[in-house]
Amino acid sequence: DYEKLWLGLSLVMIVGFIATVTYGAVGAGVEMIDDSGDTVDPNSLADHPEFGDPGVEQVGPNEYDVHVIARQFVFQPDPIVVPANSTVTFYVTSADVTHGFEVVGTNANAMVIPGEVAELTVEVNEPNEYGIICHEYCGSGHHDMEGLLRVV
Ligand code: CUA
Repeated sequence: DYEKLWLGLSLVMIVGFIATVTYGAVGAGVEMIDDSGDTVDPNSLADHPEFGDPGVEQVGPNEYDVHVIARQFVFQPDPIVVPANSTVTFYVTSADVTHGFEVVGTNANAMVIPGEVAELTVEVNEPNEYGIICHEYCGSGHHDMEGLLRVV
């Protein structure tokens, strides 16, 4: 009868809605670990294609990408070693709380917020060493949170 038909149609529509919602959630989950995005899941950095093994990667003749994780109270990796006469783009995220990322003596300076990826590009010419400091208060070890950029 019509009542059963309508009940059946309603069920089909409800299943359809659930499928749509689920598909949307899965899509968003994939996007969160997309390297090209500006966001990242701070709770699954170990599974991230880049942040899972943070470090220096050559992406062009004189171009390097560096993925950096800030966490209480270190930068990873440390030191960061890149060749002189190159363009270096840092992608920095946090595994816990808000940190800062400043390459002392350059204009590279950003807030590092969990879930977001800060992107900074610097030109490094001469061999040199630059301190990296956290300039946002992040807890008891904040004043000791520093790293090193070594240009060789
Ligand atoms: Cu990290 Cu202050």
